[in-house]
Parts: sequence; C-alpha cells; structure tokens
Amino acid sequence: MAGSDQKLTAKLVLPDSKEVTLPVTVGTEDEHAIDIRSLRAETGYITLDTGYMNTGSTTSAITYLDGEQGILRYRGYPIEELAEKSNFVETAYLLINGELPTTAQREVFGRMLTRHSLIHEDMHQFFAGYPPTSHPMAVLSAMVTSLSAYYPDCLDRSAPMDLHITRLLSKVRTIAAFSYKKSIGQPLIYPKNSLNYCANFLHMMFAVPSEDYEVSPILEKALNQLLILHADHEQNCSTSTVRMVGSSGANVYAAIASGILALWGPLHGGANQAVIEMLEEIQASGGDYKKFIDDVKNKRGNRRLMGFGHRVYKNYDPRAKILKKMCDEVLATLGVKDPLLEFAKGMEEIALRDDYFISKKLYPNVDFYSGIIYRAMGIPTNMFTVMFALGRLPGWIAHWKEMVDDKDTKIGRPRQIYVGEKVRKYVPIGER
Ligand code: CMC
Repeated sequence: MAGSDQKLTAKLVLPDSKEVTLPVTVGTEDEHAIDIRSLRAETGYITLDTGYMNTGSTTSAITYLDGEQGILRYRGYPIEELAEKSNFVETAYLLINGELPTTAQREVFGRMLTRHSLIHEDMHQFFAGYPPTSHPMAVLSAMVTSLSAYYPDCLDRSAPMDLHITRLLSKVRTIAAFSYKKSIGQPLIYPKNSLNYCANFLHMMFAVPSEDYEVSPILEKALNQLLILHADHEQNCSTSTVRMVGSSGANVYAAIASGILALWGPLHGGANQAVIEMLEEIQASGGDYKKFIDDVKNKRGNRRLMGFGHRVYKNYDPRAKILKKMCDEVLATLGVKDPLLEFAKGMEEIALRDDYFISKKLYPNVDFYSGIIYRAMGIPTNMFTVMFALGRLPGWIAHWKEMVDDKDTKIGRPRQIYVGEKVRKYVPIGER
C-alpha cells in the first residue's frame, strides 16, 4: 500500500502477471476496503465471495459495528446508552434522520405516528381471509405489500416519502397486533391516541373490549428496550434485501415487505422462535441440556445451538449482554419463574467454557435471551419474529432512504462463475 501522504491503494497480481492498482476506501472508524469497481472493466476478472463474507455492498453512515470488540453504535451513539436512556420512537427518528430529535421534532414525529395508526377498513377483510393457522409473518409481509395498493402515490419515486415512512412505522405496529388478535380469534382492538408507541402496541395486543386494560410500565419499558436493541444492524440479510429490492426502483412498501420475508428464516430473525422451541424441546425430553450441547458439538442430527454464533460478532454480542441482564430484571419484576431461563443460562455457561464454541468464537446473540423476555411478557412464540420486524423497521427504512438518496446507487446485480454444461445440441425427446 502507498504511504500516508498519498491516497491508499492496493496492488493485485493476476495469473498472467498483469498488475492492477486499486483504490482503498477508509471509513471513519479506520475500516479498510479495496475498491474493485473498475476490476472487471480493466481485467475481465470478477471476485467470488459466497455469502458476501468479505464484500462491502455500500458505504453507510447509519450504524457502526465492530464484531471483534463487541461494539454497536447507531449514528455514533453506543447501543448501551440508547437502551438505557432513549425510547424506541426517538431511536427510530435518530436512525432515519441522522440526529436525535429536539423536543419539538419529537412531538411532531410522535403526533404523526399517532395520526397514521389506523389501517384502511377494507384491509380488515384481509385478516378474515387467512386460515387460523397462518404464521403472523406471512400475514405481516402480505399486508405490508398491500399498503402500496392503498397509497399508490408511493409508486412515484420523485414524490416526498416522509408520509409513507410514517405510515409504515405506525401501521406495521397495528397490523402486527391485529394479526395476533386474528390468530387467537379475539376482536381487533383499535389503537388509542392517548398512548405512546409501545404502550399502544401492548394495548392493541392485550386489551379486550369487555374489560379495562392498563398498560404495565414495566412491559412498556421492556418493549422500548427490546425494540431499540433490534432497530438496526447494518448490512444483515434482511437489510441487504431491502436495499437490493429498493435498488430496482420498487416502492418502499415492497422493499420493506421483502426485508420482512428475509428476516423470517431461522438463521436470521426466526432464531428467537427457534431458541424457545429448542428450549421447550429440551424441557419436554427431561431437561438434559448437557446432552443437547453434546449433540450440537458432535453434529448429531445437524443440530445447532440456536441463539449462538454470528456472522460478524466474534465476541459477546453487546445486545445479548444487555438482554441477559434485562431478562433477570423483567422476570423478577413480573414475578415470573421460567425453567427455560435456567436451561438457557446453564447452556451458556457450558458453551462459554467449551472448546468447540470457544474455537469457533460462538457467543450468545441477540436472540438467545429475547424470546424468554417476550414469553414472560405474554407474547406467543410465533409472534417473536414479528416483534423483531417491528424493531428492525426503522433500520430498514433508514437504509432504504440512504440508498435512494445516494447518487452512487446502482441496481444490485451480482455476477457469477458459471460451472454448468458447455454448449450442446438439443436432443429430440425420442432420442433421449
Ligand atoms: N451452534 C453450533 N455450531 C455452530 C453454530 C451454532 N449456533 N453457529 C455456527 N456453528 C459452527 C458451524 O457448524 C461451523 O462449524 P464447521 O466449521 O465445523 O462447519 C462454524 O461454526 C461456522 O459456522 P457458519 O455457519 O459457517 O457461520 P456463519 O457466519 O455462516 O453463520 C449464523 C452465522 C448466525 C448463521 C450461525 O452462527 C448460526 O446458524 N447460528 C444459529 C442461528 C442463530 O442464532 N441466528 C441468529 C443470528 S443473530 C440475529 C440476526 O441478526 O439475524
């Protein structure tokens, strides 16, 4: 690489000894990337990076993450401080707009979220059309796509997008709660304008028309913290999907719906549900979690310790650290004793001392303890990934906005190395 008085570059020597000099991009936290944008045009070569383990798909000013050190910051603010001092609406504003809101800005933003919380009455019929066994993620993703049919001006890319962003943040919460009510056969509970964002969600989830429901401040605080911890995580699978779909010019509702679908998988946001199912399975088979860990290590039945491991964290996930403490506090305050928490703690203790997990740098991730907190809050297991989606929404929106506003954005279109048949002649069916 060149000296510090010049722009940094990297040299690549190709098999025919041809040398190419490539610029190096340096981020604000001294992260280095070799910029290969001119590589194919200059040499005919592409890079091959399955799973994008080494590929930076964009520059971004939203979230900084250092997986080796266990650091996570939104717009420069440490996650620990935001979880302790902020609330979800303020954090959403920060992610989307780049700065913490002033009092006046926060009031306007909060008012807008309250005003746009209802969904079109015709959309209520959609809920009736789903079978009772529907996974709420299927309902949520389809309903978010449907929002684009109700707000067709979103198809005009030159129109202001602020209102669509507000609608998404407010209505996804309503849709999430409605999909739960539908799944348990209870009447839909409309949002209440006197309540804050998280309290309003809990009200729509747990109130019934025949009784008074008072939102517990403990649950409201816990929900705020959980959603903050999930609010962004830079170029993860679902966020990259949102950017990819958005890069084609698809509308914001379509891009966010695609993020919801990518999140659903058990290796991503679906892991919080998978953790509880794993712990319940251990409980049902007598509670021998040591045997379970042994099966995982010996790859018996292709098992993984769900809620452990991360593509970028090779140290304790800072979100898991906060969640573990929060789990103890919330369960103690609510007076909940959950045997699954004891299994989880026991498994963590073993894993953190075991060479299999140490050598592979596998630590608890955000999903290991979040499910136990949601369970204690009365949220059913199949809603956990919906909760993750609700939390991740401002991150997806912030990345979509950054991508749209970036003059360097191009439609996402990776290359490939073809390894199939060479050209051959068509064989008529009678001769095959
Ligand atoms: N339990 C047991 N072994 C594991 C685990 C685990 N949870 N995670 C990774 N490994 C092993 C894996 O078998 C492989 O071993 P080997 O080299 O012997 O084949 C090695 O560690 C590397 O695994 P990988 O799958 O190549 O690593 P990755 O970076 O592609 O995968 C991951 C990351 C999160 C998909 C993976 O760790 C995993 O499947 N974890 C469990 C699911 C989970 O908790 N997902 C939530 C992630 S955090 C929330 C989010 O942001 O989505």
